[in-house]
Amino acid sequence: MIVHRPPFIIHQFATLGSTNDELKRMHNPPEFTCVVAEEQTAGRGRRDRQWHSSPGDGLYLSVLLLPNATEKLSLLSLIAAIAVAETLTELRVGGADIKWPNDVLVNGRKLCGILIESVSAGTNAPRIIVGIGVNLNHESFPAELSQTATSLKIETGQAIPADDFRDQLLQRLFVWYERWKHDESRMILDRWQRLSTYAHGQRVSVALETESLIGETAGLTEDGALNLRLDDGSVRTILAGEVTRLRKNEG
Ligand code: BTN
Repeated sequence: MIVHRPPFIIHQFATLGSTNDELKRMHNPPEFTCVVAEEQTAGRGRRDRQWHSSPGDGLYLSVLLLPNATEKLSLLSLIAAIAVAETLTELRVGGADIKWPNDVLVNGRKLCGILIESVSAGTNAPRIIVGIGVNLNHESFPAELSQTATSLKIETGQAIPADDFRDQLLQRLFVWYERWKHDESRMILDRWQRLSTYAHGQRVSVALETESLIGETAGLTEDGALNLRLDDGSVRTILAGEVTRLRKNEG
């Protein structure tokens, strides 16, 4: 089924392997093409992880962006998280937070994950697939996720139709994408930092490819990378890594 929510064209499926993969398979889709599935059988997360995508419980959505600039692409990952966090605020869900770069948490547990993939079309123009998974109506999670994941149903007791969340989220994403296109990086960085308790002064460990660092977060760079102040006072700029908050007596 195809649903029109201008400028978005939404291709709705009952079951797919992965909405990101389906969007990649499409032949030259226009910008703002979306793929949504009620269930994913091979939902993918970052770092080759799986994304738990049980039928009817979540929003599993991929959106195609065709930015005509190659600078500041990394900020697209921040605007997706901002859009999700603002949708939660509109729904009056308290306790939302963003863990760098783009995990959206509620009351400290993960409610939404974002997988951004760039597909080269053989030209300089990047094709960006923004894959967003939001846990909406799950009543429970498999044992391995039960301590770290949550859903809107678990947090608020209310079920929410995935289509309603989808439409609000797409509107917010469009607003922030327009700001990105108009080079409003400062506004994006400020907004992200206001929505995230991880932005400043948090003691965290950061797992990189080959090492792990411990330090205190010290804001974002203008490209959206995370500044980490190490215990020797030096500052490392983190471009990619897995952030974990440390409790007072850890690290
Ligand atoms: C993460 O936190 O690791 C990112 C998870 C991204 C999951 C979404 S669900 C829709 C889209 N299709 C996928 O296969 N993955 C993303």
